[in-house]
Amino acid sequence: MSQALEVETDRGRTYSVVVGERAVDRLGRELPDPCAAVALVTDSNLARLHRDRVIDALGAGRTVSAFEFPAGEQHKTRRTKERIEDAMLGEGFGRDCTVVALGGGVTTDIAGFVASTYMRGVPWIALPTSLLAAVDASVGGKTGVDTDLGKNLIGAFHQPRAVLIDLELMQTLPGPEVDNGLTEMLKHAVIADASYLRSLVNEADRLRSLDPAVLEIAIARSIEIKGEVVAADTEERDYRQVLNLGHTIGHAIELVSRYRVSHGGAVAAGLAVECEIAARLGLMPGSARKEVVAALERLGLPVAPPAGTDPGELLQATKRDKKGRAGRPRYALPAGIGEMARGERGFAREVPDDVVLSALEEA
Ligand code: GLY
Repeated sequence: MSQALEVETDRGRTYSVVVGERAVDRLGRELPDPCAAVALVTDSNLARLHRDRVIDALGAGRTVSAFEFPAGEQHKTRRTKERIEDAMLGEGFGRDCTVVALGGGVTTDIAGFVASTYMRGVPWIALPTSLLAAVDASVGGKTGVDTDLGKNLIGAFHQPRAVLIDLELMQTLPGPEVDNGLTEMLKHAVIADASYLRSLVNEADRLRSLDPAVLEIAIARSIEIKGEVVAADTEERDYRQVLNLGHTIGHAIELVSRYRVSHGGAVAAGLAVECEIAARLGLMPGSARKEVVAALERLGLPVAPPAGTDPGELLQATKRDKKGRAGRPRYALPAGIGEMARGERGFAREVPDDVVLSALEEA
């Protein structure tokens, strides 16, 4: 069984997303015509595990070269991008090449960014291998790299040509990777679909054990939701801000913990705290906040920053969030489950420090 979706962008283009057990086998069919060469961009760990299967799926008739970089967020840099580009230029890749990204969020972001500027832009296809990359990084066309001054500060919007989510590539994910994906899925449910939230809760055990039948349906629903947001506002002028739900507090928790708390764990706690902020501002009913917290708990995700974290330090850390303006952090807040509140600028709003502090203290 597999799920096939079409994701739209606001430029009127669409691309296919296929979720299923042997989705990678479709790779040859998704290549543009002509496609003289394929640059398979992947990290050293995934190359060892899946490279041959991907090369088989590409089929004959074109040059295929793998460009590997060392695994890890610390390698999501301009330097890595430059090395891949220089290697592609060295092998004579022209405008008629396609970039294929095999990996998690780091690989997807770098490979998409390479594709966005190589010869002023070539097509790319995402083969996500983590749950987070499947439901977030590979859909929506945000590509980029980190710098010493912050994550994802240099990048481009460049939509993929296709996304193939092969559940067999995901069967060995470590726990924090599963947390990262489940948090994002729950966030999509809070943004747009209360019945999706309830089905995540009902299937929590099967989702955590990566049961393919349940995972396939949930991933497809998350992508549909993210796809609708991106179609409405590809370049994040307004509605796409809703995807930041949970992330203002989440990024602060990551920063204060010096990245010892996983991204998913930090955003899960951020989601709980931001629902509390929304309830304190009278945007979200208290019963809806409680239901989100119960859902986080049922999925085995944190609902508060790690014990002993100083709320004042977290508040200061929010002021360094890159989506803030002049040190004033902005929040995307829910109006209920399945509905986001309009802020003073689009869907983002500033929140008084005392409201944030009291929500953090409550958590
Ligand atoms: N990850 C948030 C977005 O794609 O806008």
